[in-house]
Amino acid sequence: MKTLKGKTAVITGAASGFGLETARLCAAAGMNIVMADVQQEALDRATAEIEAIGAKVLPFRLDVAKAEQVEAMGRAAFERFGAPHFVFNNAGVSSGGLIWEHTLKDWEWIVGVNLMGVAHGVRVFTPMMLEAAKNDADYDGHIVNTASMAGVVNMPNMGSYNVTKNAVVAISETLFQDLALVTEQIHCSVLCPFFVPTGIHHSERNRPAEMAEDMKPTKSQLIAKALGEKAVTSGKLTAADVARMVMDAVAENRFYIFSHPRALGSVQTRLEDIMLGRNPSDPFKDRPQIGENLRNAIRSAD
Ligand code: NAI
Repeated sequence: MKTLKGKTAVITGAASGFGLETARLCAAAGMNIVMADVQQEALDRATAEIEAIGAKVLPFRLDVAKAEQVEAMGRAAFERFGAPHFVFNNAGVSSGGLIWEHTLKDWEWIVGVNLMGVAHGVRVFTPMMLEAAKNDADYDGHIVNTASMAGVVNMPNMGSYNVTKNAVVAISETLFQDLALVTEQIHCSVLCPFFVPTGIHHSERNRPAEMAEDMKPTKSQLIAKALGEKAVTSGKLTAADVARMVMDAVAENRFYIFSHPRALGSVQTRLEDIMLGRNPSDPFKDRPQIGENLRNAIRSAD
């Protein structure tokens, strides 16, 4: 997309982190913005801030895991602003622990938000955008889906999070190919951040009551939470940096958005494992002490 002024953005997870920072950039660029989030208070605060920049905002409280709520948001967005030009399917939650220790509710929650949330966004908005493209040769659109480095490298003890983020990469690469079959006016990207300080390590704040878990977290889950918090809070890049990368990729029509390109060595190793038929490499081979500490912590008695 070459110009943004007067166009419309739809952003999920718009009340915090990457979503909010991207809303700030969209507002500064003169876009209308549909700000969708599950957390009402944070959404109210974010809406007031973005409106104060001068943008027209449609705040929409929803749970992206719920098909009918994303569909309702799509209808409301279309009624207010017409077909959007930029759709950022970004809302997500984190989880961790040994993969067999996730409960059924753990799986349903994270698959619902991280995977189905993106699927619903693609399902609701792509046809709307294609229709707009058909009716207007000048229309251009871009969809960005938020995955993670966990979408391209499977680190241990990150359980279902890896699964959902791999799926978002798959949705996005397929969307790229499918769009190319039918149009030159709509493009897409996948955002794969590494650890960046946001609210992601407090994702449980948004876990709905019906998905609440009665069981105490297991040791591996507690370890994953502590390590995740440490990694996220000590990230050097900011959410604002990542939002700029997103908007640059939209402007330049770049598909892969990696916040930490230097971490891509682990992707290369993984692909070489696949190509050479090798077993998955030790993810801690460059920093063996971290692997040793993780193994010791998980194997230690309670
Ligand atoms: P954040 O927690 O600051 O923002 C996420 C937003 O999504 C919050 O406002 C939250 O209320 C909203 N949300 C959560 N569940 C929702 C639901 N069911 N429906 C609607 N909204 C919901 O975290 P951050 O980091 O900005 O997260 C954005 C995306 O970035 C997520 O998909 C996350 O998995 C991904 N990511 C984050 C990384 C990081 O280190 N911060 C690294 C890799 C990926």
